[in-house]
Amino acid sequence: MGGNGTGHQGAARNGAAAAAPLLALDKLRLTVGSGAGEVNILRGISLSVAAGETVGIVGPSGSGKTSLLMVVAGLERATGGTVRVAGHELGGMDEDALARFRRDHVGIVFQAFHLVPTMTALENVAIPLEFAGRADAFQRAEEMLREVGLGHRLTHYPGQLSGGEQQRVALARALVARPRLILADEPTGNLDLANGQAVMELLFGLAANHGATLFLITHDPKLAARCGRTITIADGQIVGDARCEGAANAPGMV
Ligand SMILES: Nc1ncnc2c1ncn2[C@@H]1O[C@H](COP(=O)(O)OP(=O)(O)O)[C@@H](O)[C@H]1O
Ligand SMILES: [Mg+2]
Repeated sequence: MGGNGTGHQGAARNGAAAAAPLLALDKLRLTVGSGAGEVNILRGISLSVAAGETVGIVGPSGSGKTSLLMVVAGLERATGGTVRVAGHELGGMDEDALARFRRDHVGIVFQAFHLVPTMTALENVAIPLEFAGRADAFQRAEEMLREVGLGHRLTHYPGQLSGGEQQRVALARALVARPRLILADEPTGNLDLANGQAVMELLFGLAANHGATLFLITHDPKLAARCGRTITIADGQIVGDARCEGAANAPGMV
């Protein structure tokens, strides 16, 4: 009997708990419009991503990359299949539950920085924690801004910051609640080369330091190659899924 108990524990430790994917998509579909105007944007995407993986998403413009990110973030509802993030099945959630899910588990960085222009850098970063009712929102926001190298820009407004600095504020905002999943959609698309590289260094470094899973949409093959895994999307389907051992999270490789 004792042996049986030990074996059960071992199975739990080595099996379900350790192997549960952070992100699991099963036959995911996204169709918009109806009748002759129907557009099949995502056409049966199945994918499993382990906690801590860095995944680069590449594919031609219009292939469905941004749509995929929106569905994974719970900002767009799948019209078929299932989306499971950190054990949460998104299909069954109402809008409030989806908002809480995003607040607690997901950090999103877009190409456009989407900062609130009337709020300081510190206020912008504190927003997600204030929504969560955290008493230490401003203290955590300040620490996070220091982590992205902006400890000297706390009280600046977005209009007083360079593009690279604004994206670093957006990164700090995405990460301040310590999400397990970071979703980034061409986050350097609006930046020059030097600022883009600095933001990418931060993004990879922070994902590794926070132990977060990174889902990075990029046009840049060098950045995709830096991810531990590269998924290619074409016409709403996965047409390539390649692992690149040794590339993941290695600093200074851009
Ligand atoms: N709300 C929508 N209604 C109709 N078509 C859409 C909508 N959103 C995206 N699309 C279409 O879906 C396809 C995929 O778009 P998107 O996900 O933005 O691709 P990507 O990010 O790979 O460039 C494109 O053909 C786009 O025009
Ligand atoms: Mg896109």
